[in-house]
Amino acid sequence: MVNRRIADILRHGQPDETVTLQGWVRTKRELKGFAFMEVNDGSSLANLQVVLTADDLPNYQELLPKINTGASVEVSGTIVPSQGKNQRIEIKPQQVQVYGEADPETYPLQKKRHSFEFLRTIGHLRSRTNTLGAVFRVRNACANAVHQFFQERDFMWVHTPLITASDCEGAGELFNVTNLDLTNVPRLDKDVDYSQDFFGKPAYLTVSGQLEAEVMAMAFRNVYTFGPTFRAENSNTSRHLAEFWMIEPEMAFCDINGNMDLAEDFLKYLFKTVLEKCPEDIEFFNKRIDDSVLATADNIINNEFERITYTEAIDLLLKAKRKFEFPVEWGIDLQSEHERYLAEELFKKPAIVYNYPKEIKAFYMRLNDDNKTVAAMDVLAPKIGEIIGGSQREERLDVLEKRIVEGGMPLEELWWYRDLRRYGTVPHAGFGLGFERLIQFMTGMSNIRDVIPFPRTPLSADF
Ligand code: 4AD
Ligand code: MG
Repeated sequence: MVNRRIADILRHGQPDETVTLQGWVRTKRELKGFAFMEVNDGSSLANLQVVLTADDLPNYQELLPKINTGASVEVSGTIVPSQGKNQRIEIKPQQVQVYGEADPETYPLQKKRHSFEFLRTIGHLRSRTNTLGAVFRVRNACANAVHQFFQERDFMWVHTPLITASDCEGAGELFNVTNLDLTNVPRLDKDVDYSQDFFGKPAYLTVSGQLEAEVMAMAFRNVYTFGPTFRAENSNTSRHLAEFWMIEPEMAFCDINGNMDLAEDFLKYLFKTVLEKCPEDIEFFNKRIDDSVLATADNIINNEFERITYTEAIDLLLKAKRKFEFPVEWGIDLQSEHERYLAEELFKKPAIVYNYPKEIKAFYMRLNDDNKTVAAMDVLAPKIGEIIGGSQREERLDVLEKRIVEGGMPLEELWWYRDLRRYGTVPHAGFGLGFERLIQFMTGMSNIRDVIPFPRTPLSADF
């Protein structure tokens, strides 16, 4: 007898085949002399129905009280055509074993619909619900598609450190990494004496693997990272996490246009692949969570993204027939309301905005000939706002050093980064895609806390 996943049985199972399956009971319905039990093992949205009868199961009477929502079971039986109209097949069991019971008085996931807020308080159980189950299957399919996309194109997956001594973006928002005794911190005058700390200097959790990805791109041409990054932003929004996953491709011999092309191809590929791999889950999101999910996917796959300069974007925002909370003028950092207006209301599709004022962007972005803007690019998505941030990098040593100094960054600490420009420098570019924002975009889930299994946000690191 083959032990099969429920998704496989539902899709390919034929009448008279014998199967063994394992999973957790989603529902039980008792009728006179028999009962329906629905089992799920996380492999599909749909449950597999098992019809329990006293005729088939000698221990029926003693089994039934143990079968409740949440209990773990193993079922061996035969596939039969289902009489019901909700499913093609069901299981006529020869044997049912309960591994672990779940007390119906206390098991928190009863059949009614729970709010996502409530489900976050039971992060250890919420993956057993339809919605979170679908989210994490989509997340898995999408993560796999990320690797597939890059591996098909000969990009090398490089592993950049999570602990770093450099503040990549120069934007603060860093978590410190230390093993000093915080109740008795060694000091030199007023300052902390980091020479006594683990690394002999201040260290942090990385906000981005970009600088190290650039190092690797200068040896392997096309590389990408895919891993967790950390930001101590105290922003309690539906789009910010303190720990999130980022994908950062970096390409040598590439400019901002090649970078925009890659970003667009990448998003199209991910949507297409996930639609193919998880059609039922995506349809579920469209029906239950956000009825524009399928239209959004179709829109991404089949339309070219809008591409406009920052200056053009500001003009469009100034002409907009609506008021913004943050006033618009050339030089401002685009706020979420501005980004959403452009993508959601004006273009009704993703928009790539490029060439931002140098004052509002990081030191490593390539200075344009106008001396006012840098070759930065953000991909703005309807409902989400910024989903990708990237740039062509400054490959000219003198210009880079000037920008580092202007930005008040320490030149010495970036000696190795500057060396890349000293030895065999080339034009290069890359971007970062926020993985959770992408999953939000794909599923229509409105809160980023519900697209990562164990969200970390201000004042919250449970489970
Ligand atoms: O725009 P960001 O800050 O770009 C970088 O980190 C560059 N080093 C990337 C590169 O060029 N290699 O962040 C990239 C993306 C954002 O567009 C957003 O999707 C996501 O990361 N992101 C967050 N996602 C969840 N929670 C947060 N706190 C996020 N901050 C950024
Ligand atoms: Mg950004």
